[in-house]
Amino acid sequence: MPLSNENSIAARLQALADGGRSSTRILSQQLAPADYDQLSQQLTALISGEKDRVANLANCAALLWQGMPAINWAGFYLLKRNTLVLGPFQGKPACTRIEIGRGVCGLAAQMLKAVIVGDVHEFPGHIACDLNSRSEIVLPLIIDGRLMGLLDIDSPEVDRFDYVDQQGLERIVQVLIAQL
Ligand code: SME
Repeated sequence: MPLSNENSIAARLQALADGGRSSTRILSQQLAPADYDQLSQQLTALISGEKDRVANLANCAALLWQGMPAINWAGFYLLKRNTLVLGPFQGKPACTRIEIGRGVCGLAAQMLKAVIVGDVHEFPGHIACDLNSRSEIVLPLIIDGRLMGLLDIDSPEVDRFDYVDQQGLERIVQVLIAQL
């Protein structure tokens, strides 16, 4: 699908780069990171022995919702017929379908890489499900080399997420997809 200039991947990547630089500085002053060691252990215990995909995604969303400070949405979009469709989540009701290449989720799906947006107001094409959201992190769920869905977490604080969160959440995603 063609993208307009203002919504181009290059423009959005630049917005990410700007957001990423400031996020590390502000986070180190203001906010302790989530305890990803503990969250990984809790997730392992929660989903071990359960093979149902929806049940495991739902418990993972609830665990992150309870365990991560300063967030206002945590959940999943699942790839169905080349569209991202809303999956289990915690937070306010959200948009149900996102096209690949649209918004922060669509960009992460297109690049098959984690995306951190320090200030969603500066991100061209951001899809605002909750007007209180100010920063966002999205990680792809890749199984056997194929995109299965995305983990998406929003915060009402600018620059809430940094590389420590990305690494911690990548561990969470690895625990999760081993059981999906
Ligand atoms: N903000 C996302 C849409 C999903 S909600 O945040 C739950 C985006 O731009 O893709």
